[in-house]
Amino acid sequence: MNIRQATSDDLLAMQNCNIMNLPENYQMKYYFYHALSWPQLSFVAEDHKGRIVGYVLAKMEEDPEEAPHGHITSLSVMRTYRRLGIAEKLMTQAQKNMVEVFNAQYVSLHVRKSNRAALNLYKDTLKFGIHKVEEKYYADGEDAYAMRKELQSSNTTPPNTSIKT
Ligand SMILES: CC(C)(COP(=O)(O)OP(=O)(O)OC[C@H]1O[C@@H](n2cnc3c(N)ncnc32)[C@H](O)[C@@H]1OP(=O)(O)O)[C@@H](O)C(=O)NCCC(=O)NCCS
Repeated sequence: MNIRQATSDDLLAMQNCNIMNLPENYQMKYYFYHALSWPQLSFVAEDHKGRIVGYVLAKMEEDPEEAPHGHITSLSVMRTYRRLGIAEKLMTQAQKNMVEVFNAQYVSLHVRKSNRAALNLYKDTLKFGIHKVEEKYYADGEDAYAMRKELQSSNTTPPNTSIKT
């Protein structure tokens, strides 16, 4: 299994993986928007034949009023490749580059209240906390947990900053 940064050549396979695994689907232009704006933040998992079996699609939020922060737009792993640590690795890579490339202070995401697998991944494995409940967030009326994880405290020196003495 190979985890690597996504390229524009991967976007169709990522969209296919998304359609197979989630009810929240996006037009191809939304994938391009991510790949062109934040190419460092989206990753794919490919099997030994180079087939895309999982992805994380991520971006930076662009609100100038708030501290720089990343957002996980979508994450999924093909059914037969689950429980192998792929989602954890994809998320860890995205979070690392949010900090190193964009100085993100925290990362946010939404998850269905009923999505036990994803909730376990975010809460227990990746240490996200529930920020708030967003009622009827999803098109079918289900509530979302808006979750966040601190990536660095605001007074921490960003990793790429060299200190001149
Ligand atoms: C949620 C999802 C991305 C997890 O992918 P994955 O590669 O299987 O996850 P990992 O192997 O990295 O799992 C890491 C941890 O998450 C938790 N977890 C993952 N799947 C779980 C499940 N089915 N039930 C309970 N806990 C689960 C476990 O704590 C797991 O650690 P463990 O295997 O050591 O117990 C995958 O199930 C999926 O694609 N689901 C459909 C799409 C989806 O819900 N995406 C998230 C939308 S917010």
